[in-house]
Amino acid sequence: MRVTVDDIRAKKSTQPIVMVTAYDFPTARIVDEGGVDIILVGDTLAEVVLGYQETLAATMDTMVHHVGAVARARPRALVVGDLPWMSFHVSVPETVVNAARLIRAGADVVKLEGGKKRLPMVRAILDAEIPVMGHLGLTPQSVHVTGGYKVQGKTENAIHTLIDDAKALANEGCFALVLECIPEPVAKTITNSIAIPTIGIGSGSGCDGQVLVFHDLTGYGEDLSTKYVRRYASLKGEAVAAVGRYAADVRERRFPTKNEAYRLPKGITLPDLAPGGRTRQ
Ligand code: KIV
Repeated sequence: MRVTVDDIRAKKSTQPIVMVTAYDFPTARIVDEGGVDIILVGDTLAEVVLGYQETLAATMDTMVHHVGAVARARPRALVVGDLPWMSFHVSVPETVVNAARLIRAGADVVKLEGGKKRLPMVRAILDAEIPVMGHLGLTPQSVHVTGGYKVQGKTENAIHTLIDDAKALANEGCFALVLECIPEPVAKTITNSIAIPTIGIGSGSGCDGQVLVFHDLTGYGEDLSTKYVRRYASLKGEAVAAVGRYAADVRERRFPTKNEAYRLPKGITLPDLAPGGRTRQ
């Protein structure tokens, strides 16, 4: 049975929700077999997969391409398609069309960054029967106005704004809310003051669930020593070592062996070629 939006809602305050990003078919299979509840095809793919410095580089076409790859893995987990920068900023109708593109590509629901000022977009997407996940706190698509990747919600004003935004998104009908990089007590207060689950990243243990980027938790990406990331493997190190052993085997003529090559059927003889490839007369 596939995970549904109702399953996620029902976990509020009872069972921690596990969300991990994936951007392609094999990774979707891995995280699904690992037992996650939600796969987020996040716009972080611009950074960790495509090598850009910011998530702002992700376009609708990029997101559709990667959502499709993840959906083709037919995961049990709920698939969240992230609406990239400028896909929900121009107009409400354009927002709905873009949300629908992610659903047609295979997402079950969409996520968008921002608070109260995005309520008309959230309402319109919900009216199109598409469930919405909100995202507050550090919202990387706003990096140029926030002045960098900083912990949010550190002043009383900022805390009140976050709480108001969270309540507004929950009342509007979002089914869950990502809280990125906000102090643990603030995340806990928000979690306790809304009826929908919160999923934290860098926001401490008081949230209803946690999300990490696949490349960070598996050590597959570039080294990134962020306080809130726990690394469970060193995939990049293992992959570099594997490629190194393969290169050495090729150079030392240890690969391939006879068992790793195809033979000719009995009775077939090869043409007798002169040096340079011409058939001998
Ligand atoms: O795009 C993304 O991967 C995200 C997570 C970091 C929450 O938004």
